[in-house]
Amino acid sequence: MDKLVVRGGNPLLGTVRVSGAKNAALPCMAAALLTEEEVILENIPQVRDIETTRRLLSAMGAQVELGYGRAHHRTTIQARNLTTPEASYDLVKTMRASTLVLGPLVARCGRARVSLPGGCAIGARPIDLHIKGLERLGAKITTEHGYVEATANRLKGAEVVFDKITVTGTEDLLMASTLADGETTMQNCAREPEVADLADLLNKMGAKIHGAGTSTICVKGVPKLHGAKHRIIPDRIEAGTFLIAAALTGGDLKVSGCDPTHLTSILQKLQEVGVKTTQGADSIRVMGDTPHQAADVFTEEYPGFPTDMQAQYMALATQADGTSIITENIFEKRFMHAQELVRMGANIKIEGRRAIVRGRTPLSAAAVLASDLRASASLVLAALVADGETIIDRVYHIDRGYEHIEEKLKGVGAEIRRIGEMFPRKAAAPTAQF
Ligand code: EPZ
Repeated sequence: MDKLVVRGGNPLLGTVRVSGAKNAALPCMAAALLTEEEVILENIPQVRDIETTRRLLSAMGAQVELGYGRAHHRTTIQARNLTTPEASYDLVKTMRASTLVLGPLVARCGRARVSLPGGCAIGARPIDLHIKGLERLGAKITTEHGYVEATANRLKGAEVVFDKITVTGTEDLLMASTLADGETTMQNCAREPEVADLADLLNKMGAKIHGAGTSTICVKGVPKLHGAKHRIIPDRIEAGTFLIAAALTGGDLKVSGCDPTHLTSILQKLQEVGVKTTQGADSIRVMGDTPHQAADVFTEEYPGFPTDMQAQYMALATQADGTSIITENIFEKRFMHAQELVRMGANIKIEGRRAIVRGRTPLSAAAVLASDLRASASLVLAALVADGETIIDRVYHIDRGYEHIEEKLKGVGAEIRRIGEMFPRKAAAPTAQF
């Protein structure tokens, strides 16, 4: 199992560049299933979930080329003949976002067979709202042997009101409704920038979407979509992770290639804690070793404080003076990192969906275990300020959503190395998958 070894104590200095957003790239790759023409996506992060999506789409008959070498942030997808509109359990169990193919497949092929994702480290995470929405568009859906089977001659436009705000649920229905017969109005939609980025691509493919990024989205269905070229937005969660790394280590770090307008709630919270930042058009700079005060936070749907930053914020709260109460409102089991931070000397008490963090407590290096993507990021952040050498096990989690994190952190002064194979391996020759 890969491990990361981090020696704490170095302030982060210099500039670190943010990659494309994993949570925008995944739905945009699924959207390529909606047309038989070529879709070219740029600024694709080189993370494990992209590789899993490539395998998922290839297994259906799509041609997927992940660029390497100079073009290594470009992906070309052509789903001319989708022979097997199916997402197998083997792939879905490694990445729940695979369920994003359900809507595009039933819309394009009239049928889809997608494995149910099953449980996850951070919560139950059912897809009942995806299913309900597709049934509103006229799909016939059955669930048996752990698979969702959906069929429809042609989906029909309809009114869809989500019982609960769901990011991939909104994206799945958005994609399905682009090829439906008639108009679809979706309400109580997710407003995440990744949803708006997907709609941007779909409109370039000939869809007629209005209101993406707001809670009401209207889609006029069209008979066919065509190919397009699209640049994925920067990863606001990766950017937020680096901002906290700089604040924790008392460094002077410029996070470049990001969109500060996507980080408003994170920047506001950092300001409240006492972190000094300045913003450029596509960069944010964190300066200096300022004392940090405790501040409560509760996770919310966008534009509220993102649940994907909760674990990283907890690492910061361990080094703030006073008591911070962190309330996790989105996922019921997203405090797995807390006990690992306690192993490093943090003072954290979990009461249901609340974590009570008493700071400032010096952290000392220890062997710790990553349980999910963002939990592993928070352990890396804590290790950057811990006394000694921390060994983080099961870092395959971090490769799912952070591109070359140890290289990026080393580039700004962190003492970090990997035991095991980096993902993706360096200097692989370009491979076209047919
Ligand atoms: C997306 O997951 C992100 N993943 C998650 O990021 C992120 O944590 C989450 O949105 C919330 O912001 C991708 O975009 C690929 P939801 P998603 O549907 O869409 C419940 C990361 O670290 N729900 O918005 O799966 C659900 O259980 C990942 O990059 C239902 O009950 O999340 C949760 O409590 C982790 N029924 C809430 O809604 C449904 O059908 C929000 O989940 C769907 C969701």
